[in-house]
Formats: sequence, structure tokens, C-alpha cells
Amino acid sequence: MSTAAIIPAAGFGLRLGGEAPKALREVGGESLLVHAVRGLKAATAADLACFVIAVPAGTEDMVLKQLEPYCEGAHLQVVAGGSERTDSVRAALELVPVDGIDCVLVHDAARSFVPVEVIERVVAAVRAGAPAVVPAVPVTDTIKRVDRDGRVVDTPDRAALVAVQTPQGFEPSVLRRAHAGEVAGATDDAMLCERLGVPVQTVEGSEDAFKVTRPRDLLLAEWLLAERTRS
Ligand code: C5P
Repeated sequence: MSTAAIIPAAGFGLRLGGEAPKALREVGGESLLVHAVRGLKAATAADLACFVIAVPAGTEDMVLKQLEPYCEGAHLQVVAGGSERTDSVRAALELVPVDGIDCVLVHDAARSFVPVEVIERVVAAVRAGAPAVVPAVPVTDTIKRVDRDGRVVDTPDRAALVAVQTPQGFEPSVLRRAHAGEVAGATDDAMLCERLGVPVQTVEGSEDAFKVTRPRDLLLAEWLLAERTRS
């Protein structure tokens, strides 16, 4: 059995600014998408057999050519994404083969530098029987719930909060069921599973799995890449 990876990469990255869609912005001379795919391929225990990438409409051929050299030995498909992240994931999920896949990963292109150990931890937990798995890190800020006027409603206990990352891993039929239901307002795929009452397991994430969102994140990504190249 092997793993399929869905990479939603169809966002325009408005908070990042710049000309190119976010996933095509470069760090160290290569796109965030290339870094993300290379990271998944490096997770040998995950046994990645299939990649489905959702990209902005019109960039499919260019992305296919860009990624082909990094997907040797795996089946690569590129599909036009949708207006929301869940639309992009759903479009990609339709292309994931039904047979021979025991784990589907959904991984944001923008979390391009997630360490191999995190990817392998997620896949191992799915293979051990968890239907839905998310990498998580402790929250360092105090988080407050506010109303529409910005007034604080309450302060959840920080010890009970975690920030979740990707790749998120799923038993394939669970992810299909999750996306067959109501997806409005969902900011990740685990949330869709929660709506079905499916238990979601956390595993240890990593600070290096940060999401490139704002311009300063590109500087952090350049630094991280340089550190990795040095060591
Ligand atoms: O916007 P945000 O940073 O939360 O996006 C997370 C991931 O989802 C990014 O990799 C982005 O390219 C992807 N995305 C997508 N389709 C959209 C919006 C975001 O594939 N319509």
C-alpha cells in the first residue's frame, strides 16, 4: 500500500504580495511548490506513489513541467484549483486512485519546509489506525475570542490549545466522506472530519512547518534553507 499527496497550491497569496501565485514564488532559486514536493518525496517511509497538485487555472502545463523532474517513480497529476481551499482539495481528491492507497496526505504548498520526520509521523499514525491525523505545535501567544466590535469575550486556557499544520493524513474513505458533506467555512480538512464526528489525532509538528504567508516568512524560509544546506 502507498500514500497519495494532495497539494492545494491554487492560492494567490494576497498577504504575500508580488506577481506570481504564492506556490510559485521562489526561495533559494526554486518555487515553494518544488520544495514542498521534494520534502514529501524525501519521506521514504511514507511511500509516496501519487501526487495531485491543485494550481491556478492556466498554470497547469507549466507546473507539470516544473514538477516532473522531482516526481520520478510517482504518478503526477496537476488540476485547476477552485476559489476556496476546500474546492481545490476536492478537485484534487477526485483524481486520487481508489485502489492501492492506504493514506491520503493533504499538504499546503506554502508549508514547504516541513521536516521529513513530521511527514513520516503522520503517515505512521494513519497506518496504525487513526482515521485523521494532524501535526500540532503548542501555542505561544495567549489567544482571545473577540466579538465583532473587537471586545474580548473570553480567554481559552492556553494549555489546551495547539496550532495545527500540514501534512494532514487521512484514511482515504474518511477524507472522501468529509469532502462529500458541507465544506463552507472549513479552513482545514481535519475540521471536515470533526464535523462528521470522526476522531482526529494530533502528532508532534515542527516550527519548521510554518506557512509562508507574509513577506517576512520568505526571509525565514531563505534562512532555513541556507541552514539546511550548511548542515
Ligand atoms: O491562503 P492560505 O495560506 O491559507 O492557503 C493555504 C494553502 O491552500 C496554500 O498552499 C494555497 O495555495 C492553497 N489554496 C488553494 N486554493 C485556494 C486557496 C488556497 O489551493 N482557493
